[in-house]
Amino acid sequence: MAKSQTQHVCQTCGYVSPKWYGKCPECQSWNSFVEEMVSDASANTSKKQRSYSKEKTKSISMQDTVHENIERIQLPWEELNRVLGGGITQGSVTLVSGSPGIGKSTILLQLVGQLSEITKRPLLYVSGEESAHQIQIRAKRLQVTAPSIYLFSETSLLMILEELDRLQPQVVIIDSIQTLYHPDLASIPGSVSQVREVSDRLIRYAKERNITFFIVGHVTKEGGIAGPMVLEHLVDTVLRFEGEKNVNYRILRALKNRFGPTNEIGVFEMSDNGLSQVSNPSELFLRERPESASGTVIFPTMEGSRTLLLEVQGLSTSSSYGMPLRNSVGYDKNRLTMLLAVLEKRGGFSLSNQDIYANIVGGIRIQETAADLAILTAVVSSYVGKVFPPQTVVFGEVGLSGEIRSVQHIESRLKEAHKLGFHKAVTPPIRKLKEAPKGMEIIQLKNIREITNLF
Ligand code: TYD
Ligand code: MG
Repeated sequence: MAKSQTQHVCQTCGYVSPKWYGKCPECQSWNSFVEEMVSDASANTSKKQRSYSKEKTKSISMQDTVHENIERIQLPWEELNRVLGGGITQGSVTLVSGSPGIGKSTILLQLVGQLSEITKRPLLYVSGEESAHQIQIRAKRLQVTAPSIYLFSETSLLMILEELDRLQPQVVIIDSIQTLYHPDLASIPGSVSQVREVSDRLIRYAKERNITFFIVGHVTKEGGIAGPMVLEHLVDTVLRFEGEKNVNYRILRALKNRFGPTNEIGVFEMSDNGLSQVSNPSELFLRERPESASGTVIFPTMEGSRTLLLEVQGLSTSSSYGMPLRNSVGYDKNRLTMLLAVLEKRGGFSLSNQDIYANIVGGIRIQETAADLAILTAVVSSYVGKVFPPQTVVFGEVGLSGEIRSVQHIESRLKEAHKLGFHKAVTPPIRKLKEAPKGMEIIQLKNIREITNLF
């Protein structure tokens, strides 16, 4: 094969140049040039190379595709199966992102360990970050020692592809994409050009040979996956590993999944022996709840197909500045400000001399508006200095007229609360409740004016 060359391409307008420019001479955009590969082969891409499969491709009837079963591997951890959309899909490429030290290498090593009990085919862990010796020490600690698991400490893409050809593994872990490089590109590993070239080759390889890949991707300070956005578009599934380093539990969240629903989460707990799955996360989140303090309310939230009970806290203190402060952790700050305005105008509370904070315990971010009523109830509880009844859950959206609006999944929220011993629920007006859990009292609120009646 002829030696590959590189060229620089403007990512905005597509202008091609042999040298790099800070500003595109064509469209005048800044910093838009990225080094790309031009090999003779790819310059006049043959028909065979354009398709994933080596055989001649032809169109197929839709009828033939719907009956094709997707091959999935079920792991012992139900928390992992759920996030992956019902197990690992053979031949899929999954990007696992998360900040450094969160546990990406740990969970993938444990995943390989679980796979080794199911399949006899080789499994390959490619590490560009740590030496084989370091991984062996960790593997020993995690008791991941099956002979079918191979370690390969390498950063050159060509060497890795050679090893893949030789070993023919069923599942490959790449830890991480930012450490690999293609030797024909002059850019450093982790640069946009390298990440794009390397991931493109790996994904193509995965699809050609029906090999499953898990690729670790670091996140930038802003929280995005380092490297081009295109990486997220190329892979089948994007998982994000979330959590605080000083808190023991971690959440694996599906941001994109071609083989299952998104927004599913798996909850894990980190200990000295690695991660273990948490099958009942609500218990974990409510473990340290202060039952006799004001300003705390339990909210049943939906995370994918599952309900979790979370503690919502509100704090109201007299303001020492002219402008009262409003702040929130785990909830949209603008929405909090709006809700407080509604509480003041429609609920008749005088809040203009109060600093107000809202907090979702456990570092979870709530995206749903169903939390509105719980947050306002927590704030009111702190404001009036009265404890909210501890065995009660609260949910409902709040509108600008102070009205409490209906939310989705009422039944599942009530069911999860009942399962964990809650016997009262404050809800929006419910037109017809299919099935209320036995012995559960339901208080339907129409307007936020009625919040004070709850205490
Ligand atoms: P790691 O998987 O190396 O994180 P990442 O690959 O995302 O950078 O996890 C590193 C952290 O996890 C480190 O702070 C130590 C901790 N840890 C444990 O607490 N217990 C364990 O059994 C292992 C393997 C790691
Ligand atoms: Mg790591």
